[in-house]
Amino acid sequence: MIIRPEQSGDEASIGLVTAAAFEGHPYSDQSEPQIIERLREAGALTLSLVADEAGEILGHVAFSPVSISGGDEGWYGLGPISVAPAHQGKGIGSRLVSEGLDRLRTLGAAGCVLLGDPAYYGRFGFRLDHGLVLPDVPPGHFQALLLHGPDALGIVAFHPGFYGSAQ
Ligand SMILES: CC(C)(COP(=O)(O)OP(=O)(O)OC[C@H]1O[C@@H](n2cnc3c(N)ncnc32)[C@H](O)[C@@H]1OP(=O)(O)O)[C@@H](O)C(=O)NCCC(=O)NCCS
Repeated sequence: MIIRPEQSGDEASIGLVTAAAFEGHPYSDQSEPQIIERLREAGALTLSLVADEAGEILGHVAFSPVSISGGDEGWYGLGPISVAPAHQGKGIGSRLVSEGLDRLRTLGAAGCVLLGDPAYYGRFGFRLDHGLVLPDVPPGHFQALLLHGPDALGIVAFHPGFYGSAQ
């Protein structure tokens, strides 16, 4: 299996894997495939990586720019991330996260944020004790990983594609 950037023609498979991964999860409103489409349409998929096994897409992760009220730049949001249900728990998600973070470092990114379970993302260095705030989310899930430079401070907004706009 290889982790590689999305190519033209992968779009439908990415949508299907994402929909299958989030199906039935109470923390999801099942809008994740549309979020990816809106990010793509807006040119905001800074990184869109797929797990490709002999041409079959088994997983996907997106990274897109976030804005921070204090003016810090170079921060990205991880997500959505998904692995096909039959292939979860085999390390594919971890490879997608690790490869994505390596590529963000190469791009000179300052840091990465996400909303997710600390029990999973802590292993990649994501922390809950940081100076960033994501309004209107349950406590204990908004995590940050500093990659380069000083800690950032302020209120975070994910790309408008997460909120239903392609702008
Ligand atoms: C989350 C997801 C991408 C992880 O991918 P994966 O390939 O299954 O994960 P890995 O095999 O790399 O890692 C498995 C480990 O993570 C844990 N794990 C997986 N998903 C987890 C979750 N949502 N919360 C906490 N732990 C999780 C497993 O228990 C396992 O732990 P262990 O290594 O200590 O045994 C995948 O499970 C998925 O698509 N889930 C449904 C969609 C989703 O919830 N996306 C993330 C929203 S933040």
